[in-house]
Amino acid sequence: MSFVRIIVLALATAFLAACGGGGQTLTLASATPTPTTSAASSTAASSAPAAGTALACTAPAQPIVELTEGPYYKANPPQNAALRTAGVAGTPLTLTGYVVSKSCQPIANAKLDFWQADGNGNYDNSGYTLRGWQLTTASGAYRLETVIPGLYPGRTEHIHFKVTVNGTTYTSQLFFPGVSQNEGDSIYSSQMLVKLNTNTSPATATFTFVVNVA
Ligand SMILES: [Fe+2]
Repeated sequence: MSFVRIIVLALATAFLAACGGGGQTLTLASATPTPTTSAASSTAASSAPAAGTALACTAPAQPIVELTEGPYYKANPPQNAALRTAGVAGTPLTLTGYVVSKSCQPIANAKLDFWQADGNGNYDNSGYTLRGWQLTTASGAYRLETVIPGLYPGRTEHIHFKVTVNGTTYTSQLFFPGVSQNEGDSIYSSQMLVKLNTNTSPATATFTFVVNVA
C-alpha cells in the first residue's frame, strides 16, 4: 500500500511541476487585462506589464511626437483594454508599457485612448470594435490586447492614440518596424515605433509614452 501512495505522490508532484506550479515565467501571458475600473485595473495590471515589460526610459526623455488625429476617431469610446474580440481580423498583439514624465517618473491614472483598423485595414465606424480607453495602473503601466493593424490606402500600419495627463491630451500614432510602407507615409515618425516581437503568440510589442511634463 505504501508503494502505491508513493507512486500517487510522485505523479501528483510531476503534474504540478508540468502545470507551472511556480508559474512565474508565465506571469505576463496569464495576466488578464481588467480595465473595468481603475481600482480593479491597478490591482490586476500592476503585476502584469512589470513582469514582461521593464520600464525603458532614460532621463531627460524625449516626449512623444504629436501627430494628426485623422478622420476616424469616434467620440465616447468604451473603457476597454481588451479590444481583440472573436472574429476580428488580424494577427493578435499584446502591447504593454508605461506612461512616464520627461524625468521618467511613471504616471498613474493617465488615460490612454486607442483606436485602429483591423488586420484588413478597416475601421469600425458604426460601432466600437478596436476602440477603447484605459487608465494606467499605480505603477504607470498599461496593457492593450489588440491585433496588428492592416494597411489602407495611403497609410502604413499604425495605431492611433490619445494620452491625457493632468487635463492635457496628446494625440499621435504608433508605428511598426520593418513595414515597407513606413517611409512612404507622410505621417510616419520613426520616434513612434513600437518594439515588436512576432515570435510569440500573441505577438508582443512595447512602447513608453513620454508626456511633456517634468
Ligand atoms: Fe488611421
